[in-house]
Formats: sequence, structure tokens, C-alpha cells
Amino acid sequence: MTRIDVETSNADRTMDANDPRNETRRLSGRILVDGVLREAEADTQFEVIHPGDLSVIGTAPRCGSADADLAVEAARRAQILWRGVPARDRGRMLQKAADAVETEHVLVERVLSLDTGNALRTQARPETASAIDLTRMFGGLAGELKGETVPAATRNVLHYTTRDPIGVVAGIIPWNAPLFLFAAKIAPAIAAGNTVVVKTAEQAPFCVLLMAEIMNRELPPGVLNVISGYGEECGRPLVEHPVVRKVTFTGSLAVGQQIAGYAAQKLCPVTLELGGKNPGIVLADADLDLAIPGIIDGMRYTRQGQACTAASRVFIHEKIYDRVVEGVAAKLAEIRVGDPLDETTDMGAIISAEQFERTLNYMEIAKNTPGARVIFGGEKPVDPKLTTGYYYPPTFLDGIGLDSEVCRDEIFGPVATALPFNDFDEMISQANDTPYGLSANLWTRDLSRALEYVDRIEAGFVQVNQCAAPRSNVSYGGLKMSGLGKEYALDSMLNHFCASKTVLINRGTPGNLV
Ligand code: NAI
Ligand code: MG
Repeated sequence: MTRIDVETSNADRTMDANDPRNETRRLSGRILVDGVLREAEADTQFEVIHPGDLSVIGTAPRCGSADADLAVEAARRAQILWRGVPARDRGRMLQKAADAVETEHVLVERVLSLDTGNALRTQARPETASAIDLTRMFGGLAGELKGETVPAATRNVLHYTTRDPIGVVAGIIPWNAPLFLFAAKIAPAIAAGNTVVVKTAEQAPFCVLLMAEIMNRELPPGVLNVISGYGEECGRPLVEHPVVRKVTFTGSLAVGQQIAGYAAQKLCPVTLELGGKNPGIVLADADLDLAIPGIIDGMRYTRQGQACTAASRVFIHEKIYDRVVEGVAAKLAEIRVGDPLDETTDMGAIISAEQFERTLNYMEIAKNTPGARVIFGGEKPVDPKLTTGYYYPPTFLDGIGLDSEVCRDEIFGPVATALPFNDFDEMISQANDTPYGLSANLWTRDLSRALEYVDRIEAGFVQVNQCAAPRSNVSYGGLKMSGLGKEYALDSMLNHFCASKTVLINRGTPGNLV
């Protein structure tokens, strides 16, 4: 097997520092194990395309259990040393790793844009900045890894708890915000003294591999390992590996359930960040200058709606319904769909043929619904620059019942539905009528109503008069079938990436001083 060390491959970098395709070619066929960017054990690879023009940007190893074993073994060896490094020193190394990524952010964000089709200016650049910020934050929090002392129940007994590393952590990530989610899985785990193996999403492996490669300049070998491959073939053996003692996953509900099932066999804890069918709610007294752009931001249209927090069911009070709907349509017309790497583009391309078809299928259902109206969008672009690539305009519908699949399923494309209401109680029960419980946004000037909504809405991430994306230091996770556990803030590191011992020490009687 050929081993390509990081030194040699860095030399190739000088070719054209700004062309992300040189990077994806350089990273092709590689995994990162034990600090080495190397070929995989698996002898097959799959193509990775740029959703903006469908060109092949590289190939990634189709890893199976042999590579999962290799990576877990490297992580297991590294763990023995890493857990012995003082926590704040681990944190400092993590912060240096974040600094190193920041130094190369121009390249990283371009590879992210190329991988995902997400627009560079509106998505890939801020996502890269958030990933760096979150990594740095957890580095700084390493000193918070402390237990408690407990008042002793018996004389002479010292009673305390510890916070220790769990061991080897597996992370399985999706493609929609791969870099931020990568950081959210690895940074708390590594700061807490664990070592990690991440399986990238098959659609977007390179940006994560690049970030991990850069971080590996500052971390000891084996602390952070990255492999690629399909779910059942690569993700499953990684999750099932007996040495892996913690799994953190972001993705679909169905896969989250499967992963929880694999982990249950060895009683291994899992953190799951799954989907949503989230409500955005505009009450009659809302400040529409906030609410109208808020609906658009809340739907994450500039990420093609490919966000678990996308508020795709927009409840609007009857009294202001027409004004809001017209206002949203006017603003959607200003969104520029186009080449993800072009700085003037607001909204890039849908990730894959599969997700593109999914959007088209839901639009087919919508268009065949009697009474349905396409308020904005709803047709594939005809501009020849946008016909090769998975481009679809921001789409806003109404006239569709809450029982339609369009209103019940997570579409994960740029399609939202407006729903008029006149009764607050009825609207809240409709908003809650979903197996999911991820996020919710509401616009009102009425504090009492706002607090009532906070109390009654079944969602883990609740906002009023705003709809920010999840970020560092904001504890984030879903209720109901949207997930298990919280991530992105200190409590995630303490509660989900640490093991704890309860210690009782009897002081006995003092020995004789010699
Ligand atoms: P997915 O849930 O199938 O894939 C996410 C990750 O899980 C990928 O890395 C995949 O390789 C891995 N995976 C799949 N099956 C696995 C298995 N049996 N064992 C271990 N790992 C496995 O999501 P996909 O297929 O990319 O998208 C389908 C739908 O899932 C979307 O339309 C959307 O509704 C939802 N989704 C939600 C996300 C979120 O942020 N909550 C992110 C991505 C997708
Ligand atoms: Mg899948």
C-alpha cells in the first residue's frame, strides 16, 4: 500500500492555491488515519460531483470494515496518550488547530462550496467561520472538565465525582453543513480527552478531510481520523466496532433509528440530531419588517432549504396573510440563484440527483393538489447557465392542507408552504402535530403570547422575533423524534462526551510519621 505523507502532499498545494479543484484532486482516494493522509484498504472509490455543474471533482474511498478497524485502532492507541495530556493543554492544541484552519479559510470554504453546491458568500464562508469558532470555543472550555465534591455521609470519607474521557468516539455526519457539524462532533470530544473517527457523507467528503488534515498539524497522530464511504458499508461497522464507546450522528430520522439500534447491542450512548418539519409563525401584531425577511432566513432558502431547522410550515394570521405572502414573494425575487463559487450568488445548487428528484416529487404532489397555488418559484430555471446543475428556485406555496405529505414530510429542499390561521390555540396544536420537535420561530410584539408559545410549542430550539441558525455556545437539540441529546455548547461536552466515576475514599487513620 502506498502511503502519502502530509509533507509531500503539501508541496502539491503550491500549484494554484485558490483553485479548490486542485485540492479535491489532491485529496482524492485518501483517508486520514494516524496523522497520515493515505490510501484506504478498500480498493474501490466513488465519484464526488460538484452540484453546480455536475463535474466530477474527485473520488473518495469506499471504505468498509477494514478501514473502520484501521481508524478505530489508531484512535484507540492515541487515546492512551491523549487522555493523559492535561485538559487545558489539549484545549490549547485544539485552539492552535482552529488557528491553522483559519489561516487556510479561503481554501477550505471554497472546497466546502465545491463539495456541497452551497453558495460561497452566504453559506460556505460563514459556515467555515462557525466551524473554526466552535473548535476554538471548546478548546477554551477544556478547563471546565471537572467533577464535584459531595458532602460525605460518613466521617472520614472523601466523596467526589470525576469527568473522564469515554474513549474512542465515532461521528457520522451528513452533507448539508458538513464542516460545522464535523466541528460540533469532534471539538467537544477531543477537548474532553477522547479520540475520534469520523465518517464523512458520501456527497461531501473533501472539505472535512481538508479541515482534518490541517488540524492534524497541531494534534498528535490518531486523535482525529477521517474515513469515507456509504452508510451501511462503512458507517455501520464503525458504529458497531466494539472499541467505539460513544456515537454522535446528524442525519435522517430513519438512519438515526438504525444507528441507535446498532449501538443498543453494546449499550453505547448515542447523540442524535435528526430532522424537523418546523413551524414559523407570524401573529397579527408582528413587526413585518422582521417577520418577512425572517420567514426567508428561517426557511434557509440560501442553503436550498437543506437544513434540519428549515421552517417549512409558515403559519400566518389571516389579518396580515396577504401582506406577508406578497412581501415574501417580493423578497424571494431578489434571491440570486447561481454558480455557488460566484461571490454574487445568494443560493447555490441542491446537493445531489437524489435530493433534486425529491424536491421535484414533492412539487409534483403540490401541483396536483386541488386549490394549491405557487406563490413564488416552482419551476426549474430555464437560464442555460443553470440547466446543468441541480438548481431550483426558492419556492413558496399555499392552498395545501396540513395532512398533505408536502406539509408532513421533511422535504429538505427549497419548498415552504404558507398556512393561514385565525385561532392561536388551534394553530399551536397544528404546529405541534408532527412527530418531529426540532425548532420553531414566532413573530409577535405581544410578550404574553410569546411566552405562551414558548411554553406550549414542542420544539427543542425555540426563537421569538428571530430565526438564527444554530451556533457555538447555543445548546441545540430536538424533542420528540428530532433527536436525543444536545450539542454545540458546554453542556454537550460535559454530558455527552465524558464518562464519570463516583469515588469514595476512606481516610482511615493517619500513618505514623517516620
Ligand atoms: P442519511 O441520514 O442517510 O445520511 C447521513 C449520514 O449517515 C451519511 O454519512 C450516511 O452515509 C450515513 N448513514 C446512512 N446509513 C447509515 C447506516 N445504516 N449506518 C451508519 N451510517 C449511515 O441522509 P441522506 O440520505 O443524505 O438524506 C436523506 C434525508 O435525510 C434528507 O432528505 C433529509 O430529510 C434528512 N437529512 C437530515 C439532516 C439533518 O441535518 N438533520 C442531514 C441530512 C439529511
Ligand atoms: Mg440516506
